[in-house]
Amino acid sequence: MINLKIERLKNGINELYYQLIRNKSRYLLYYGGAGSGKSVAAAQKQIIRIMQAFYTQKPVRLLCMRKTTPAVRKSAYEEVKSILSKWSLSQIAVENKTRLQLTFPDSSEILFMGLDDPEKLKSIHGITSVWMEEATEFTLDDFRQIDLRLRGKSNQYKQILMTFNPINEQHWIKKQFFDDDIQKEIESGKQIVSRKYTANSDITIVHSTYKDNRFIDHAYIERLEHLIEEDQNYYNIYTLGKWGVLSGRIFENYSTAETVPDKYDIRYYGLDFGYSIDPAAFVECRIIGKTLYVKEHLYQPNLTNKELADLIRSILDANQDKNGQILADSSEPKSIAELRRYGLNCQPAVKGPDSVLYGIQKMKQYQIIIDPESTNILKEFDGYKWAEDKFGNQLNKPVQYNDHTIDAIRYALSRINAEPVKFITEEKYKQKRPDYNEDWMWEEI
Ligand SMILES: Nc1ncnc2c1ncn2[C@@H]1O[C@H](COP(=O)(O)OP(=O)(O)OP(=O)(O)O)[C@@H](O)[C@H]1O
Ligand SMILES: [Mg+2]
Repeated sequence: MINLKIERLKNGINELYYQLIRNKSRYLLYYGGAGSGKSVAAAQKQIIRIMQAFYTQKPVRLLCMRKTTPAVRKSAYEEVKSILSKWSLSQIAVENKTRLQLTFPDSSEILFMGLDDPEKLKSIHGITSVWMEEATEFTLDDFRQIDLRLRGKSNQYKQILMTFNPINEQHWIKKQFFDDDIQKEIESGKQIVSRKYTANSDITIVHSTYKDNRFIDHAYIERLEHLIEEDQNYYNIYTLGKWGVLSGRIFENYSTAETVPDKYDIRYYGLDFGYSIDPAAFVECRIIGKTLYVKEHLYQPNLTNKELADLIRSILDANQDKNGQILADSSEPKSIAELRRYGLNCQPAVKGPDSVLYGIQKMKQYQIIIDPESTNILKEFDGYKWAEDKFGNQLNKPVQYNDHTIDAIRYALSRINAEPVKFITEEKYKQKRPDYNEDWMWEEI
């Protein structure tokens, strides 16, 4: 039985979005900086609509979308389920994990879908609302298709809710929805702007930054404020939530494909250790000639080294590659030593002067094929760019932001054409080096 009053949920919803719970604009845009609570608020709005449908006895069919199905499964689907659980509503939702659907007692539904197969969209009927998560991933044509599916009469309001970072001022979303007037109002500090959009539809645009999210981690804020030192454009987009420019992309040599070769020349795993809000990233690289296949196995913050080792071991077991070679960030010798003690074949990546630039050049020599389920790798490749100073001059270093899987791939490739590290026992090492320090265990002797 759904016996929650929306007002009772107020404490768990950021104020900015609480005002929008009853917003019925056909187009509702939550955009702005990173960590501003957009995705959580969008997921909350879906569940609140399910609850309202229950009270009013008018069932709804809500569609949550991202460009691809693996991406929607990892993001919107998990987000909605986690809020259902927080609000003690999990037991009333019947979950179909294969079809990515949640069904509620009054037959209301939340469906999760990627647009990888546009035919699928045509087969879905009676949709009440659509949430387009990371809406900048979609093309204008995708949007038009979705908009078309949401025509026709219904006793419920129909809404397209978009959540996104304003990554590129040339984006169709900006051209379609942000006229000069709206832009000015937002620049003058107005956070919610509502307008008529067409004769019978209206639009509400909501601008947010991490400051609108009272649940945000302190470390996350520091990271975002530090971006000004890294790159002015990223600071504008992710910290201030302003429309940015897309320039200085580092990689163009990548695409996605389902097929990962069973036969390959080399297989290495790359590992970037997590730290506080940064996830640990564990990536598999298979190389055939000049083609590099990459697949992400793990992308998770807040793991202890023991947890990390257990997870990696189960991944290697599933891959039937128990002794798989793992190349990890050499600036974390203690963690590498610990993973080795847990029985993993973990080694430091080869690091030389300019190793980041060198590693990028190495990656550029390959045609990189990204496994389609590896949504974090894809996102990082899309956003990886050269840093710029505040005058817009391109610097000779990448922006250090959202680069965990890329670092892991760099580490994995660092072994190619490099001498393998020779390990000696701790005992022997102590004899050779009286000033023994466990960090030096793998120094070549
Ligand atoms: N209502 C909430 N209750 C509890 N935690 C929240 C809430 N809203 C946001 N958070 C916390 O803040 C984090 C960032 O929120 P969210 O993922 O919604 O931001 P976002 O604006 O979608 O970020 P991005 O632009 O990176 O996609 C969440 O992972 C969660 O930990
Ligand atoms: Mg988000």
